[in-house]
Amino acid sequence: MSIQEIWGWSTTPFARGSDGVVFFESHAQREALARIELVIEGHGFGLVTGEVGSGKSTFVRRIVRELDDMQYFVMYICKASLKPRDFYGEILARLGESVPFSVAKARKVWEERALSQAGRPDRQWVVLIDEAQEMSDDMLQELRFLRNQAMDAQSVFSLIMTGQPELRRRLRLKKHEAISQRLDMVYHLHGLTQDETTAYIRQQMQQAGATLPVFSDSAIRAIYRASQGLPRIVNSLCTQCLYAAATKQSEVIDEGHVQSVLADQEQQRGTAG
Ligand SMILES: Nc1ncnc2c1ncn2[C@@H]1O[C@H](COP(=O)(O)OP(=O)(O)OP(=O)(O)O)[C@@H](O)[C@H]1O
Ligand SMILES: [Mg+2]
Repeated sequence: MSIQEIWGWSTTPFARGSDGVVFFESHAQREALARIELVIEGHGFGLVTGEVGSGKSTFVRRIVRELDDMQYFVMYICKASLKPRDFYGEILARLGESVPFSVAKARKVWEERALSQAGRPDRQWVVLIDEAQEMSDDMLQELRFLRNQAMDAQSVFSLIMTGQPELRRRLRLKKHEAISQRLDMVYHLHGLTQDETTAYIRQQMQQAGATLPVFSDSAIRAIYRASQGLPRIVNSLCTQCLYAAATKQSEVIDEGHVQSVLADQEQQRGTAG
């Protein structure tokens, strides 16, 4: 039985990143959004990093949804181990171009399109790359070319990358210094604060149609401590607590439920070796 059925709610709270996710805006996300807007307006290059499960992809999807179609032409790329060939393949396809086999030719087509776009009052181009920590070294080097090209062509596009913190570590390497120097904005998305974690949990419950608070303050504090406010972990702990409480026929989740879920997780990990 699903959480929704067990508890008699209208939807399942803490569900994984479907499009129906009610966006919770934390202070860090508001700040990141404001900075991204500046990068887009300034035709710049920006990078947002965040821990695993901190909400980067949810955030990027929200930007894609919210940028006005009449004003912006958004090219969203999310591909494991992105290489220059994939990059040009994706953006040229979005631009309705056929994709030449060689990277050099593809780069040329892109360059021509970007040049012909320069100075025109059409929609501004925004390239978004998610899961950027996985991009190949070649792709990181290609960013340098793109940045130079953006400057030469009076910049017809902005580029925003999101990825896990290891991307920052890669960019610190000497061989990538030229790229990190060319970034106009770098921002790190932390987990939610304790107050935000509380508001997030309450929002999820309300959205599901719960009429009682269900999660006690002490339970929320314990969830915050264990998750550091990372939404994916908060979701998973809350879901497990809801199952655990239902099994015990409790209508309220207290710290004890959270501790037993955490102890169970610990034990499962130990068993898994
Ligand atoms: N701002 C938010 N509002 C509501 N739910 C969120 C928010 N941010 C994250 N979540 C929830 O947390 C889950 C994990 O978020 P997301 O997949 O965006 O993290 P990520 O940082 O992209 O992770 P990864 O590093 O693994 O790519 C989402 O499926 C969603 O349910
Ligand atoms: Mg992600």
